[in-house]
Amino acid sequence: MRHFLKETDFTREEIAGVFATAAAMKRDRGRCSSAQPLARQSWGLLFFKKSTRTRVSFQVGVHELGGQPVMLNADELQLSRGESAADTARVLSRYLHGLVLRCYSHSLLEEFAQVGSVPVVNALSDYLHPCQIYTDFFTLAERWSGGNPDRYLESLKGRKIAFLGDTACNMANSFILGGALLGVEVVLAGPEDYEPGGEIRTQLKSDGLAPTWSFTTDPVAAVRGADMVYTDVWVSMGMEAEKAERLRQMQPYQVNTGLMRAAKPEALFMHCLPAHAGEEVAQEVLDSPASIIFDQAENRLHTQKAILAHLAS
Ligand code: CP
Ligand code: NVA
Repeated sequence: MRHFLKETDFTREEIAGVFATAAAMKRDRGRCSSAQPLARQSWGLLFFKKSTRTRVSFQVGVHELGGQPVMLNADELQLSRGESAADTARVLSRYLHGLVLRCYSHSLLEEFAQVGSVPVVNALSDYLHPCQIYTDFFTLAERWSGGNPDRYLESLKGRKIAFLGDTACNMANSFILGGALLGVEVVLAGPEDYEPGGEIRTQLKSDGLAPTWSFTTDPVAAVRGADMVYTDVWVSMGMEAEKAERLRQMQPYQVNTGLMRAAKPEALFMHCLPAHAGEEVAQEVLDSPASIIFDQAENRLHTQKAILAHLAS
């Protein structure tokens, strides 16, 4: 049985297949002939953290693939009253055909995958956000390939991406892994204390991937020559106690028009959303022609449907 807990759970060849499926599903959405690989299945969506995009796109996606989504808020389950994760995983596996899980510790995802008996999909942990990264690279490939699915992966190779702000967060880790897998250069710029740690370096090694990332404290150097500039919230879910300090430290890394000027003239701007305009990004950048944030948000649906179809096949 396959799980999707991290970017490297699929090979490059499989990612090419997922992207091609996502493109076909996007093109054929709403047609009677659309594939229904989850027909007669029920998939649980278990969330320990807030969500707009992931929650709704998975609910809609499971439905469109012919399955029934079962929405589970962690604080409404016996799990929140002391039932173990292991028993919860075993019990849910008796009802469901798969589980989409958003949680704090990545080890909870691993426990569900190990103890349960249905596919588990990472819908964000403190460590990684692989559904988002696959979507982001799919969205870029759509643009950079000129809309030709045969050229999707090739169009990403050798590109330079700059990631600004909280360079120790799940999105930064996911760019490090995804970039290495797809041959994309990833330059992270953030405060000194936010240099990505040992866990992600070890992950790359254990996946046998050569690093394609570097870290700097200089935002302009990071953005120079970039094909795409990315940022994420400065205060990720679960880090609220550090808010004041983070906002102070990350101020130099705001993506604004001045900083975008240092990137390539045709550089795109992306953000996984939700955005906090005036903090990690200026409103004028969110609204600029370079910004493809809503195409990106839409593509969560198509990409995740393709991931689910791949796991169910
Ligand atoms: N980008 C993302 O995962 O958004 P949500 O937190 O709204 O799901
Ligand atoms: N780094 C953010 C991503 C939100 C989609 C968080 O974990 O809150």
